Amino acid sequence: MAVDPLIELRDVNKYFGELHVLQDINLTVGRGEVVVVIGPSGSGKSTLCRAINRLETVESGSIVIDGRPLPAEGKGLAQLRAEVGMVFQSFNLFAHKTVLDNVSLAQVKVRKRKKGAADRRSRELLERVGLAAHADKFPAQLSGGQQQRVAIARALAMDPKALLFDEPTSALDPEMINEVLEVMRQLARDGMTMIVVTHEMGFARSAANRVVFMADGCVVEDRVPEDFFTSPSSDRAKDFLSKILKH
Ligand SMILES: Nc1ncnc2c1ncn2[C@@H]1O[C@H](COP(=O)(O)OP(=O)(O)OP(=O)(O)O)[C@@H](O)[C@H]1O
Ligand SMILES: [Mg+2]
Repeated sequence: MAVDPLIELRDVNKYFGELHVLQDINLTVGRGEVVVVIGPSGSGKSTLCRAINRLETVESGSIVIDGRPLPAEGKGLAQLRAEVGMVFQSFNLFAHKTVLDNVSLAQVKVRKRKKGAADRRSRELLERVGLAAHADKFPAQLSGGQQQRVAIARALAMDPKALLFDEPTSALDPEMINEVLEVMRQLARDGMTMIVVTHEMGFARSAANRVVFMADGCVVEDRVPEDFFTSPSSDRAKDFLSKILKH
């Protein structure tokens, strides 16, 4: 497969004390690709995302974003964080700021946009996630699904090259999950490069180019969704799928 790699991990290892949480991880995500990461609790999915966004350091190996190795620290790191957006399970919005200000804040602070230009961009993005009418509300006045869509708009406001999602719908009531997944599907259709940790197998089947299955800090399978779901090759994946597809 000819890919134009945007995110490349080579032989990445990470320890928490004695615990080897990422073991020789090799992963390439092409520009415009959507990779869904699944696996049992504690397998290292969140640590993988955090390492790519440099919220965690790694002990060995290389992580390259758009041809540039991750800088260790300093200004380059802030720039890189802005290039790879992250959306978490908890929305982490500023409670005392309006929806509009939540989306504009980092544009002004990190991207050095003027407040007026930032607000215009924020309104476009709020429109895109279906929340144009809620710009002047505070987060507590929105549902969980709406708050998560604000968090997505906020991530998009940095004009990231890629977005990482770590269980973006896990804290949501079931009726709100779809509105968030629909926004993510639209981003995928628009060509956004995304790594998505999720338990939503419907999303994995319909929106992912590849499914990466992790267990005990290793990438055990890296396949197109159809192959993964119909004929997982490892016992770990078979076992995992039989558990989650039962309910
Ligand atoms: N800051 C930390 N310090 C020590 N150990 C950690 C830390 N963060 C994670 N771990 C451990 O690293 C392993 C991988 O954790 P991680 O959060 O990446 O797993 P996960 O696949 O995201 O799990 P889950 O599905 O429960 O979110 C786990 O054993 C976890 O307890
Ligand atoms: Mg996790």
